[in-house]
Amino acid sequence: MADQPTAFLPVFEDPADTDTFRLRVERYGPDLLDGLRRVYGERATELHERVLGIMGAGFAARPHDLRLLDEARLLHPDWLQEPGMVGYVAYADRFAGTLAGVGERLDHLTRLGVTYLHLMPLLKPREGENDGGYAVADFRAVRPDLGTMDDLEALAGHLRERGISLVLDLVLNHVAAEHEWALRARAGDPRYRAYFHVFGDREQPDAFERTLPEVFPDFAPGNFTWVEELGGWVWTTFNSYQWDLDWSNPDVFCEFLDIILHLANRGVEVLRLDAIAFLWKRLGTDCQNQPEVHHLTRALRAAVRVVAPAVAFKAEAIVGPTDLATYLGTGVNHGKVSDMAYHNSLMVQLWSALASRDTRLTEVALSRIPAKPATTTWGTYVRCHDDIGWAIGDDDARRALLDGHAHRVFLSDFYAGHFPGSFARGLVFQHNPATNDRRISGACASLAGLEVALEAGRGDAVDLAIRRIMLLHTAIMGFGGVPLLYMGDELGLLNDRSFADDPDHARDNRWVHRPRMDWGLAAAATSEGDGGSDDVVTHAWAARRVFAGLRHVAEVRAATPHLHARTESRVLSSPDARLLILKRDHPLGAMVQVYNVSEDWVELSCGILRGHVGVVVDERLSGFEYSLAPPTLTVEPYGALWLTVR
Ligand code: GLC
Repeated sequence: MADQPTAFLPVFEDPADTDTFRLRVERYGPDLLDGLRRVYGERATELHERVLGIMGAGFAARPHDLRLLDEARLLHPDWLQEPGMVGYVAYADRFAGTLAGVGERLDHLTRLGVTYLHLMPLLKPREGENDGGYAVADFRAVRPDLGTMDDLEALAGHLRERGISLVLDLVLNHVAAEHEWALRARAGDPRYRAYFHVFGDREQPDAFERTLPEVFPDFAPGNFTWVEELGGWVWTTFNSYQWDLDWSNPDVFCEFLDIILHLANRGVEVLRLDAIAFLWKRLGTDCQNQPEVHHLTRALRAAVRVVAPAVAFKAEAIVGPTDLATYLGTGVNHGKVSDMAYHNSLMVQLWSALASRDTRLTEVALSRIPAKPATTTWGTYVRCHDDIGWAIGDDDARRALLDGHAHRVFLSDFYAGHFPGSFARGLVFQHNPATNDRRISGACASLAGLEVALEAGRGDAVDLAIRRIMLLHTAIMGFGGVPLLYMGDELGLLNDRSFADDPDHARDNRWVHRPRMDWGLAAAATSEGDGGSDDVVTHAWAARRVFAGLRHVAEVRAATPHLHARTESRVLSSPDARLLILKRDHPLGAMVQVYNVSEDWVELSCGILRGHVGVVVDERLSGFEYSLAPPTLTVEPYGALWLTVR
């Protein structure tokens, strides 16, 4: 490899290790070096040497069982794309108290078919308010009330035995103002001051502010915070206690590579790259999605592929569709950055379609998402720990004959429960009076109508709410990618308003949808329970239906090879605005999915489907054979069909 200074390659005790490392560097080294060069220019050569040193140390420290996993994954590179993948997202404490407690609750996950467990931020945060753990004070320690690094490693091992991959957040845009780097910077150490963006006066901050949006306008306005000890303004995109890191400093790159390898060697298999869009700052822009972000990710990933090829990256980039594609890689970075990215647009569109009983905007928006690299996958989801921002492009809206602004206002009204006839009960998060932009907090079940229906004691409304919950989840399971079930949604847990009593949470109503697990309800919903009552207006009854329904869809999904993420879902034009029709062209034959986003019984012409899947088809969700010979079929309220060629 002419372009690679292989002279710096480490030599290990076991010659086989030296060979393995060298072979992997030959494979991934060019990406590493090119990524570094594009970001650091002339400094890249010296940096590359340092980076190889960090990689060598990480490789030498990699435990035997994880090396086996590396080999297995190299033989199974599409593991994240398999239809058997089911994700689950939970706060360790809210799910089971501690990391050890999580280990005792794995049967619950296994019952749901979970193969991927994202435990929300659990590295040691700052004291007091910490943005749900996203203000990390120490990347090498676990939050003391949850356990220790050894507990984390043990849990990772138990999960691995069950075929469940541990996923952790890697907060790489910022650290807590109490992180050691920040403390040293405050103490006047120039090395650490250079880890952050610090400005002595307002000139630069003001210049940047002209084009910077605000992430939390209500409780953290502006993007810079005056810090007396620094004698300057430090960049704080999120809260004032989260200091953005300066990734143009190679030391920051080295620190994070070392942290990543440390976590990987403890058994973390997927790293969720938190707020990755914000990593690089450029005057005159919104300082999101800058090309350097992708070159940095490519370099980090290449280094990790050498040391710990079992590890994958997931991008948390809540950005517009065209930008989103760049996180899975476009151009020189095609397929070389994150292995997975959240499909924010799908999530938004599903809620939008449910409110309007109209899929035309969904059709437009989904059909305009660029194809992803064949080796990558989506993380599909209905709800997560964050609010829902109505990321609907004005242009997409226009094409669907809607006014973008008016539709976003409608969605906020609808999900806040203000729109006449709305079934939803959510809370407004970050109201921007200038634009009337209102994001929405709320648990899936409350947004889907279960809270209102149970309160009213109406069985018919409970039934519709459950159907909506199932429709949303069936769609994310059918779309392709890793469906990410959000803790509690499998039981239809409702909004938890107790956050308002906790001073560390009261200002941030995203806590309304971060409830504690209700294990009593879980027991009632699963076979562990005594069967419970048959009363359709109890929460337990609803939970039982949702849990059994999700479990069933996950099972069907795992047995449907057409859902491998290599194949893309594409939208077919639907003759009825209440139906969303997706098609997957798989080598085994086509799969067509139909989703009814309304409470109506909707007739669909079989002729439209026949052209894609033929006359006799398997409907996978019901397990029945369908004949598409009759002129029409009827899709039940909020019904879904997964049709595959016989
Ligand atoms: C991500 C997290 C969000 C957090 C932010 C800052 O968007 O999902 O909860 O507030 O990053 O770390």
